[in-house]
Amino acid sequence: MKNTVITFRQAKGREKLTMLTAYDYSTARLMDQEGINALLVGDSLGMVMLGHPDTLSVTLEDMIHHCAAVARGASSALVVCDMPFMSYQVSVPETLRNAGRLIREGRAQAVKLEGGAHFCPQVRALVRASIPVMGHLGLTPQSVHALGGYKVQGKSAAAAQKLLDDARALEDAGAFSLVLECVPAALAARISREISIPTIGIGAGPDCDGQVLVWQDMLGLCDTLAPKFVKRFGAVGQAMRAAFAAYAREVKSGTFPAQEHCYSLEDEAAVLEKLY
Ligand code: KIV
Repeated sequence: MKNTVITFRQAKGREKLTMLTAYDYSTARLMDQEGINALLVGDSLGMVMLGHPDTLSVTLEDMIHHCAAVARGASSALVVCDMPFMSYQVSVPETLRNAGRLIREGRAQAVKLEGGAHFCPQVRALVRASIPVMGHLGLTPQSVHALGGYKVQGKSAAAAQKLLDDARALEDAGAFSLVLECVPAALAARISREISIPTIGIGAGPDCDGQVLVWQDMLGLCDTLAPKFVKRFGAVGQAMRAAFAAYAREVKSGTFPAQEHCYSLEDEAAVLEKLY
């Protein structure tokens, strides 16, 4: 069954939602076939796919390119695409134009943007234009310089109140769902109880209405230290290394390709003899 924003709304309080990041066709297809509810074309692709130090260099063209590939691999999952840095911060008309391209060219079914009450005019305009919006509060990586690094958010009473107020504002502006990133579990639980739209946690504890992880993190693709909230569900990086090393060994030693990997000529001698 196709996952839509309606599926998300109806899941609240009934069933946990699953979301994973996806950036390409083949991976999206595997996730889709395993019943993941939503595929997030996250701007984390700047780091895990393109090797940038943060998400700030990601362009709208990058997002469209990867989102279109993911959309081709997703038949039942909802495809959500991040609006990259500076694609929605400048003005409402620019936000609409850029989100429109993610929907039309990237074939996204919803967009996600980072930030709270300050961005509600953008959220309202998108929702009025029939573009579903997922909010994103807590650690918002596009604000890494303003936040002074990648840190847990909402730790003081004032910061926690601001997060709750922002969550309510996004709900009121029409967001259909809300990512909470690196927020203390008890605060995420409280926010999840207080709003009617589903919260999707990443480093926000078990009481969110769903969870999201970056797939390279959950499959152990990179050697770099993963944050505390990441659970490794596989050792794909290790398996890939072993396969690459075996391939290199076999090519160097001449054991690959073997007979079974070769095409043959029916009458080899007759064909080869005619060559000059
Ligand atoms: O870009 C991304 O991958 C994200 C998730 C971490 C929620 O925004």
